[in-house]
Amino acid sequence: MSTQLRPTDVKRLNRQWRRRTNGRISLIVESVTQPFNLGSILRTSATLGVDTIWLTGNAITPDHPQVGKTALGTDAKVTWEKLATTGEAVTAARAAGYRIVAIELARDALPLHDTPLTGDICLAVGAEDHGCSPALLAAADATAYIPQIGRVGSLNVATATAIAIAETRRREWETLPATADDPAMH
Ligand SMILES: C[S@@+](CC[C@H](N)C(=O)[O-])C[C@H]1O[C@@H](n2cnc3c(N)ncnc32)[C@H](O)[C@@H]1O
Repeated sequence: MSTQLRPTDVKRLNRQWRRRTNGRISLIVESVTQPFNLGSILRTSATLGVDTIWLTGNAITPDHPQVGKTALGTDAKVTWEKLATTGEAVTAARAAGYRIVAIELARDALPLHDTPLTGDICLAVGAEDHGCSPALLAAADATAYIPQIGRVGSLNVATATAIAIAETRRREWETLPATADDPAMH
């Protein structure tokens, strides 16, 4: 019977995966204004090892008093920078060596599972109400969408971000050999 890992086992498991993970992931978060969405993005980012978050447009920042309710302390574990424009964020991500993949339901976008995600990847997501700006879509090196089969317009931005980060990590992890000393495998 499977049982939940204790906190010390989880720490050990996290350490093992950290050692086996080399790909760098960063984010551009454009004009996300709801504290619970940014808090959720921060928690996922801290959990899955996002290096830097560039916040642009009228995005709120991790120091907003209500972000902590969803971030639960993880906001202190992620490096972030607020930049005035999306152009500045794109320039910063490129200068740091990232290829920019906009995550958006956009014309000419590839399904996420068919999108090349090797190397250091900056995932870019857009505002709750109007999505990624034309400037962000024009500047991105590629655009990917998450296929939907329900009669729903779009995913919540924090959920879309989590799916995109997890898929980017999964591409690297699926190439690794299985490890015998992984406590989750016992
Ligand atoms: C709530 S959506 C934006 C709203 C949408 N453009 C509209 O007009 O209804 C917020 C962000 O979540 C991401 N997103 C949501 N669903 C997505 C999907 N199926 N594929 C890719 N990105 C998605 C995108 O980054 C998007 O900019």
